[in-house]
Amino acid sequence: MPPTTQDKRKTAPRAGSRGRAVPELIFGDLWEYDPAPETADPKLKARYDLFIGGEFTAPKAGAYFDTINPATEQKLADVALAGQADVDAAYRAAQRAFDTTWGRMPGRERAKYLYRVARLLQDRAREFAVAETLNGGKPIKESRDFDVPMAAAHFFYHAGWADKLDYVAPGRKIAPLGVVGQVIPWNFPLLMLAWKLAPALAMGNCVVIKPAETTPITALKLAEIFQQAGLPPGVVNIVTGAGETGAAVMAHPTPVKVAFTGSTEVGKVIMRSLAGTDKKMTMELGGKAANIIFDDAPLDQAVEGVVNGIFFNQGHVCCAGSRLLVHEPVADRVLAKLKNRVRVLRVGDPMDKNTDLGAINSRQQLEKIGELVDSGVKEGAEIFQPPCRLPAKGFFFRPTLFSGVTQSHRIAREEIFGPVLSILTFRTVDEAVEKANNTAYGLSAGVWTDKGSRILKLSTELKAGVIWANTFNKFDPASPFGGYKESGFGREGGRQGLLDYAKLT
Ligand code: NAI
Ligand code: MG
Repeated sequence: MPPTTQDKRKTAPRAGSRGRAVPELIFGDLWEYDPAPETADPKLKARYDLFIGGEFTAPKAGAYFDTINPATEQKLADVALAGQADVDAAYRAAQRAFDTTWGRMPGRERAKYLYRVARLLQDRAREFAVAETLNGGKPIKESRDFDVPMAAAHFFYHAGWADKLDYVAPGRKIAPLGVVGQVIPWNFPLLMLAWKLAPALAMGNCVVIKPAETTPITALKLAEIFQQAGLPPGVVNIVTGAGETGAAVMAHPTPVKVAFTGSTEVGKVIMRSLAGTDKKMTMELGGKAANIIFDDAPLDQAVEGVVNGIFFNQGHVCCAGSRLLVHEPVADRVLAKLKNRVRVLRVGDPMDKNTDLGAINSRQQLEKIGELVDSGVKEGAEIFQPPCRLPAKGFFFRPTLFSGVTQSHRIAREEIFGPVLSILTFRTVDEAVEKANNTAYGLSAGVWTDKGSRILKLSTELKAGVIWANTFNKFDPASPFGGYKESGFGREGGRQGLLDYAKLT
């Protein structure tokens, strides 16, 4: 397609902005790239059963639900709906596996299975990336370059621990807990599965896990890998369904520990239902992270980091940098740079290798984002959205910037879980800290500045589990992840994550 871009420059510096004014790039149409669709075969089945005791098993009540592609609204497969009887069967299988094989196996033997799973996932990486993008809507470049390799990295990392567990808590005796129940969300379906399973299995626990109702496919494909790897039956059991199935997994009497990632609202429901039991819990809930840009920051890198922090995976990220706190002297320049960057983001077909923002995961989530964005406009914040064309079918949302946001606006307080950035300003370091901490959440934060002393000060004063300095959204299996306040408790990753699945005596 011929280029239709017209790059007219409009220079309109505003008074009071430090440094050179940033010319605003006004585009007619975005340069069109030729389509670059990923073509690997995701090898989907028409119907997915439950994975219980090492076998794909039909649900006892015979019920199935549709799973769709959110970019086209087309059905991908039928997926089993697990009821109470299926959840019971899954826990029986898990308990049997724990008592007879996995819980008694030396760590060095368990490691061999985990290495095998990691390698098989690498072998089938393209197939898994395509399946993840089809079912979840995220751009193929993210599932290909982030989700699948990171999932494999978690299995490798924890395989490496399995024969070294005596070093997790030196001087103490360490043992698995037993059977654990886990429920995960739809934003990183395969990666959250790996985060939950790899440490639990490395420690010697057996698991019943429920993927989110909108994104069950890569979990069930991973079950194929468990079969390929010869993982003993019952070590991992996967039950699919929605909230009711999740509640059955969390409330079951068998597990000695439950782990949940999802909304704060559901996290609280689970905590209430388990109050008074002696079950262990890990909760990884929502976030409203602040990215803080000081006037001495390298602004282009900072803008790139902010864009990554909120538009990565359409903002379906619990640690998304959904608030930007920018130092007043550079506020105008940062906003102009952000607008220029957002104008050239490509929104559309997630299977295209050039796409930056893919589909919103579900109609329900799209409506929630729309409702919160409307509230931002009504409450008086200034909205900016690039004029990109959205596909006619599927669930899509334009990347959105809000400037002139105040702390009382809903878009500054509530988790939007979409590609929407709320921009506030500050004058002093203390004001930045106070605004960043003025939230019910505390999962992550980002600091952009040239001064190491300021980074150290902020990293102690910000109440967040993860603080990135001059970068954002960096992950490593060796680094523990988790929140403060309403973002939850417990850690995933690293030695700390293993301890959450261990009994110490
Ligand atoms: P959700 O918390 O309802 O769903 C997450 C998982 O919990 C899913 O597997 C779901 O089936 C399961 N679940 C639902 N009700 C349950 C119950 N009563 N007991 C046990 N499991 C249950 O999240 P939802 O409704 O998909 O999204 C709503 C909002 O939550 C989003 O807009 C976002 O703000 C936030 N969210 C945060 C996530 C995070 O990683 N922090 C992940 C997903 C959503
Ligand atoms: Mg819900």
